[in-house]
Amino acid sequence: MKKRVALVTGGIGGLGTEICKQLASDGNTVVATDLAARTERVQAFIKVVDGLDIHFVPGDVGDFESCKAVVRQIEAEHGAIDILVNAAGITRDTTLRKMECAQWRDVLHINLDGVFNMCRNAVDGMLERGYGRIINISSVNGQTGQFGQTNYSAAKAGMHGFTMAMAREVARKGVTVNSISPGYCETAMVMSMSADVRNKIVGQVPVGRLGKPSEIARTVSFLAAEEAGFITGANIPVNGGLFMSS
Ligand code: CAA
Repeated sequence: MKKRVALVTGGIGGLGTEICKQLASDGNTVVATDLAARTERVQAFIKVVDGLDIHFVPGDVGDFESCKAVVRQIEAEHGAIDILVNAAGITRDTTLRKMECAQWRDVLHINLDGVFNMCRNAVDGMLERGYGRIINISSVNGQTGQFGQTNYSAAKAGMHGFTMAMAREVARKGVTVNSISPGYCETAMVMSMSADVRNKIVGQVPVGRLGKPSEIARTVSFLAAEEAGFITGANIPVNGGLFMSS
């Protein structure tokens, strides 16, 4: 099987790191991108992935020109991007009545504009070569809404619409676009919630526990495979049964 080049945004994060490791163990060359300013986390990531075919390129998904530069650097150093995983995301949880404009804008900007910025810059190469796998990491909260997350739920729901619209535009050119909606997983984002609120939510999960980042990474690996070419515009929920829909 051809060695592919994968780019993972938010690649040094809780889900991102596991996604990078899984895609590398599938035989891909993997590049993680994230903010250079997160120096300590970048250093920790580089240590964790030492010896694997995983690289780091600094970039800001909120900045269109930065995304363009990331794509160009990867193309020059590793080759054309075949797999794009949009995993960069932030939360600014608070009820709507207390939400500042900046909390709304930041979450929409990073979580949703960031997907546009990366896809817009990576898609031309995929279309030219007639091959691509785009996987957007959304959230169960984009399907159900969540108390205290009007901003995050709106951005994550927006990703579903984006995914389906883009999937239609590129379907005949060998490029698939899908989303995954993780539930509550063992990540810093979830662990930063108050233990009370978190425990209440875990109590509602039929599987009875938080998800493991590796369980999300397995789903990314499935969608990123060459054999997944007939799956497009789809959303795969990975949430321990927290939300079931027909
Ligand atoms: N449903 C209904 N009512 C609720 C509620 C809920 N889930 N949570 C709180 N309330 C009520 C409170 O009882 C309170 O009622 P009163 O005014 O009558 O006392 C009122 O709403 C306000 O509550 P708070 O004072 O607690 O509001 P707050 O603004 O201080 O806190 C919050 C809000 C911090 C956002 C808190 O509700 C919260 O943590 N919610 C969960 C957010 C969440 O799930 N985040 C997920 C982060 S991880 C992630 O996003 C990853 C992923 O994709 C899954």
